[in-house]
Amino acid sequence: MDRIEGAARTAGGPVVDSVLRASHGLQSNYAALHSLASQLYTQGSLSSRVFQQLRALICPFDLLLSHVPAGSRVLDIGCGSGLFLGILAAIDSSASGIGCDANGRSIALANAMTERWGFDSRLRFVCLNLRNRLPMDVFDVVVAIDVLHHLSPSIREATVKEAAGRIRPGGVFIYKDMRAVPFWRATANRVHDLVVRGELIRHVALVEVERWFKQLGFSAQYREAVPRLWYAHELVAFRAPPLRVA
Ligand SMILES: C[S@@+](CC[C@H](N)C(=O)[O-])C[C@H]1O[C@@H](n2cnc3c(N)ncnc32)[C@H](O)[C@@H]1O
Repeated sequence: MDRIEGAARTAGGPVVDSVLRASHGLQSNYAALHSLASQLYTQGSLSSRVFQQLRALICPFDLLLSHVPAGSRVLDIGCGSGLFLGILAAIDSSASGIGCDANGRSIALANAMTERWGFDSRLRFVCLNLRNRLPMDVFDVVVAIDVLHHLSPSIREATVKEAAGRIRPGGVFIYKDMRAVPFWRATANRVHDLVVRGELIRHVALVEVERWFKQLGFSAQYREAVPRLWYAHELVAFRAPPLRVA
């Protein structure tokens, strides 16, 4: 296993860059995330492992992690092979969560990863189509990372609202998806999904997403557009309303 400078290993766990651990990765830390992703996935096909390493370079997981308070219980909808929760479990030994995805092979890889690193007491992955009901549980944080643009527009609002309903009062919904602008970056993203998944995606209008959260009484606490490589990301952290005392 490679040693990263300034890194530390949790008991039996992967080597985690100390900056990534201390700050939950407030600054862009591609090398550390890439290294962690390559350590997390030791099973599965070569292409699926390389794909996880590339995701760590493309997706601003460092920024997303900075919105997850230590010790959080997290629901990851459309979790893929569980990369976000795997990174979280590696950098925060008190974090836990559930990931769900419709792709059985991705869930199998996520489960192999959690068993390999002994995260299975804290993380659980379930094969579930977001057209169906989500696990009945309460979470501090819900994340939806690059999943909404894969859903049929007819189920996007209901999916977001159901997931938001699993958040405790005062908790956070971290929404991250691909931006529809600028045109060249959005086109690059369409080409990516066409080549990688054979799917012609439809970008999500952020104004609509913000409207759904407003209807639920959530407030946008943080908004950022993040260009990375040739991709354009947008991220909003929505805060759930606090519990009202009668
Ligand atoms: C771009 S991947 C993102 C995966 C993961 N969130 C990440 O950031 O690495 C989109 C994921 O959404 C999942 N997905 C798409 N439609 C879905 C549905 N109807 N129900 C559940 N998962 C779905 C896909 O299987 C895929 O794993």
